[in-house]
Amino acid sequence: MKNKIPDLKWVIKRRVSKNIDAAKEMFPTEISRVSRNFHRQIPGYSMSPLRALPNLAQIFGVGGLWVKDESARLKLNSFKVLGGSFALYRFIQDKLGLSDENMNYDYLASTEVKHKLGNITFASATDGNHGLGIAWATQKLGFACVIYVHSETSLRRIDAIRNYGARVEVIAGNYDDAVRQIAVDAEKYGWEIISDTSWEGYTRVPTWIMQGYTTMTSEIQEQMSGQGLIKPTHIFVQAGVGALAAAVIGYYHSLFGQDAPKCIVVEPENAACLFHSAQVDDGEAHSINGDLDTVMAGLACGEPSQIAWNVLKDTADAFVTVPDYIAARGMRMYATPLIGDPSIVSGESGAVTLGAFVSILKENKVDELRDFLGINENSQILFLNTEGNTDPVQFHRIIWEGSLPVPQEYWLET
Ligand SMILES: Cc1ncc(COP(=O)(O)O)c(C=O)c1O
Repeated sequence: MKNKIPDLKWVIKRRVSKNIDAAKEMFPTEISRVSRNFHRQIPGYSMSPLRALPNLAQIFGVGGLWVKDESARLKLNSFKVLGGSFALYRFIQDKLGLSDENMNYDYLASTEVKHKLGNITFASATDGNHGLGIAWATQKLGFACVIYVHSETSLRRIDAIRNYGARVEVIAGNYDDAVRQIAVDAEKYGWEIISDTSWEGYTRVPTWIMQGYTTMTSEIQEQMSGQGLIKPTHIFVQAGVGALAAAVIGYYHSLFGQDAPKCIVVEPENAACLFHSAQVDDGEAHSINGDLDTVMAGLACGEPSQIAWNVLKDTADAFVTVPDYIAARGMRMYATPLIGDPSIVSGESGAVTLGAFVSILKENKVDELRDFLGINENSQILFLNTEGNTDPVQFHRIIWEGSLPVPQEYWLET
């Protein structure tokens, strides 16, 4: 290894025993059954694949590398629709006072429901994928939808949302500004906010959204047991506001308690609000400011979701930040696999965890984190490819044109 400074930063959480109360409360064991039972009724639903990369695993000296591949989920190219659609389901169920047994997708989309509920406009801020999921779901159910995006959002992402009939407004500032603005405007115009992030006094909908993500983790467990595995030993999960990370890590802690896998949260170095909160270490969620400049559009968030942080602060084992080229390396590695491994379409936010894993294993002076994680030939490592090609122009720039190259001093010694 060359004698260079590591390009990733980390905070390790060493605990004798974890407090899993928040995880258990938010992700009771039956919740993934309810959520999955709803999602499987959606026309076009199928389990997303869990892909194995056995040859890459061998090169890195680990037992297995597993990728939950959300790149084609419901043809929307990201896992996000699982959360928004489940929240809409819960919202309508709640309004109509119906039990899970009496609710189903066909009824949800029926004229009877629309007649009973009247005209509702659902609204949300987004950095792209969540808004697309909400636009898709509201169009399917026949409701109006308003989505706020921030000024750095790519036109491809905006057009994709408009294609599902939503009104899209571009808000000056970053993602957090769009979240603040939608809260003000929803109050003014009587819209119902379906936000994936939470704030004081607004927790019910984001809880449903996080619970909706457990369809994915429950599928993973089924797929892993089909491979003779009880659970992964390590999970690398990427974070924006932390709702996904809290859902995945919370689910595993609710299910396995103190025997849960080691969980590593990965963020872009310019948008690392959870890492920052872990660094401050006073139990509170802390925001970061700035333009949150990163190619990982889905992770460009400066304010943690409070309810997500409540789970993560007690259960995540490490928080890691990485520069953009590490996500680009992950994208290229997925797209051009070793012979015998499958090729995976992975966008910037989807691929960053594979990139981070490679850096942790191969970079110099990362021994403290490596030793703590204890990754070895028995490790079964899980990644979530949370998005596919959600921004085709950016995707081709990175994969075809070699944008965001790895600096030479960080090239892998192969
Ligand atoms: C592709 C992708 N991956 C991961 C995330 C992170 O999710 P969260 O904001 O819940 O941390 C997002 C968020 O939009 C995303 O779009």
